[in-house]
Amino acid sequence: MIKPSDKLTKAFNQQIGHEMAAYLQYLAVAAYFTAETLPELAKFFFNQADEERTHAMKFLHFLLDVGAEAAIPDIKAPKPRFASAEEAVKLALKNEEKVTGQIYDLVELARGEKSLAAQRFLDWFVVEQQEEEATMSALLATLRRAGESGLLHVEDYLARQGGVLATPPAGAGEAT
Ligand SMILES: [Fe+2]
Ligand SMILES: [Fe+2]
Repeated sequence: MIKPSDKLTKAFNQQIGHEMAAYLQYLAVAAYFTAETLPELAKFFFNQADEERTHAMKFLHFLLDVGAEAAIPDIKAPKPRFASAEEAVKLALKNEEKVTGQIYDLVELARGEKSLAAQRFLDWFVVEQQEEEATMSALLATLRRAGESGLLHVEDYLARQGGVLATPPAGAGEAT
């Protein structure tokens, strides 16, 4: 097994920080929705937060598996208050777009260093980010359609969907 370079190790450690920052930000958003008595939206963000923690763990375990040093950076405090549901979800979507850029940069780095292991590892994140952006865009579109006065419709919708806002599976709606 080839140990990643110091540069790649540092970048992966930084990504642990970004994923944990997203974890904390989604907890803050979930707390906001809980305080607003919007339990389905709160649940959605508690679940998203769990996913971000899992992402951080994946990066940490990759470093440990290849014998690289784990050095978790300072983690930025999340934004605690929001003026509206839309503002909170817009922030989440912007964050997902930012993370996608970070993952793409990591892919470039891994490619440049010919680290096949890191490239394969990152493949999962490329697909995951596509899903996360699609889910967050769908939630934002749903919120905008309902408007701030229609948040209970969003709650009903989320409850019906079981909190899943993914796009329809490939092949759905196609003629057989
Ligand atoms: Fe993530
Ligand atoms: Fe995410």
